[in-house]
Amino acid sequence: MTEATVRDDALLRQSGRALLVSIHGAQRSLKLYPVENAAVQRALDELLATSVSLCALEGVIEIRLTGDSIFINQTRMRLGLDNFAAFSGFVSLMKSCGVGLLRVEDGIARREWQAFLSILGALPEQLDPTERLDLLQQRMQQADIIRLAVAASGDSTTPDADGLDEGLERAKRTYAHGVAVARDVVHGVRMGRMPSTRRLKRAIQTIVDQVMENELSITGLTTLRDYDEYTFTHSVNVCIFAVALGKRLGLDRLQLYDLGLAALLHDIGKARLDQQLITKEAALDDSEWRSMQSHPWLGTLTLFKMREGQDLPYRAILAAHEHHMKVDLSGYPRPVRPRRLGLFTRLVAVADGYDAATTRRVYQSVPWEADAVLKEMWFNPGRGYDPTLVKALINLLGIYPVGTCVILDTFEIAVVAGPSPDPEQLHRPLVRLAIAPSGERIPPPGQLVDLSTPNADGTYPRTVVKVTSPDRHGIVVGDFFI
Ligand SMILES: [Fe+2]
Ligand SMILES: [Fe+2]
Repeated sequence: MTEATVRDDALLRQSGRALLVSIHGAQRSLKLYPVENAAVQRALDELLATSVSLCALEGVIEIRLTGDSIFINQTRMRLGLDNFAAFSGFVSLMKSCGVGLLRVEDGIARREWQAFLSILGALPEQLDPTERLDLLQQRMQQADIIRLAVAASGDSTTPDADGLDEGLERAKRTYAHGVAVARDVVHGVRMGRMPSTRRLKRAIQTIVDQVMENELSITGLTTLRDYDEYTFTHSVNVCIFAVALGKRLGLDRLQLYDLGLAALLHDIGKARLDQQLITKEAALDDSEWRSMQSHPWLGTLTLFKMREGQDLPYRAILAAHEHHMKVDLSGYPRPVRPRRLGLFTRLVAVADGYDAATTRRVYQSVPWEADAVLKEMWFNPGRGYDPTLVKALINLLGIYPVGTCVILDTFEIAVVAGPSPDPEQLHRPLVRLAIAPSGERIPPPGQLVDLSTPNADGTYPRTVVKVTSPDRHGIVVGDFFI
């Protein structure tokens, strides 16, 4: 693949995403308002503009649905957290009308989009998808729509879908859903509402199922940390790490559900603090720091209240209360009597410490590299983590956790894609090559290489020399996982 085709591909992805988002936007506003409404007109303007610019790039646009994936011409549209709603809305709309292929031709008119979306929105609910597709095609012909065409799914071959991608897509949906649920819970508490635990539990069950089924895809997603959504992605990441650790320790599925819930809610007390304090960029003064330190207490009170009439395990409340106490009890809040921290607390604390330190946040513009965080957690007893659980975390993530950017002795730069399949070789992870020895960029996702596979003479073709910062080399780690 040449540099130019990589660039075209990126451009197609970007414009393709914009097109899907604008189809979704126009269809929704047409459903809510009459066609003369300004919001509808704006949405149609935007839809026309995105389709015209994509046609200028590609000539004809073919949007295909295969399973839950969307392809535009031969390029798969990657699901991101920001366009999750638009993507899934588009997929379910198309599926409900039996449409597997939508073709848009150059010269498309605004009138055609408007008529198409109106017809789509007016198809009778009681028909099955095949009947709806027939009717849709008939009505499109009557309305003289010539530059848009629809066909059933199965009319085309799948360009490059494979089992691995399907697993990753599923993991992404689980992750995005977890973030959405966490956001609702935090907003609810901020507004003084007690969220229902039922929806929360369902989201956690999906995360646990995913960890049981394919630990690597879901833990890899924790590298897609979103700066603006820190509060919510942090809770979901802590949940994923805690559950994956719990699984290693042999907890059963029901215990993992409870642990996941405890982890997702560990910082819920922060929802009751002033939001300016949470996002403050400068260092906190004494009184601000004291407020911040009250979040375990506020969390405990919130969860007790949430427990009324609902089923919420006590261990979740305990984890919210104890997660900053440290194993030697030198943290906060200070306990009155000696105590031993519960297992859930110790697990949540390790997952929390790791995620917080590796994330870029307002007051931490340069995140620590993951390997340095693990070293610090392991070697510095002052951090107050349970050493056995830190060891388990290192075994889970490898010395170089997924998403770490490494320099190899071949002068290549790579992104870690998973721990070594051989537990004796944690320093030789699976990597995806990102930059060639010449300095030339390799288009994501790059070639997958297992550094623990030796040459015939027992030497290794590639070895990690040191960890580097992806920013320094212009590498967007998320591109290697999306
Ligand atoms: Fe906390
Ligand atoms: Fe936290």
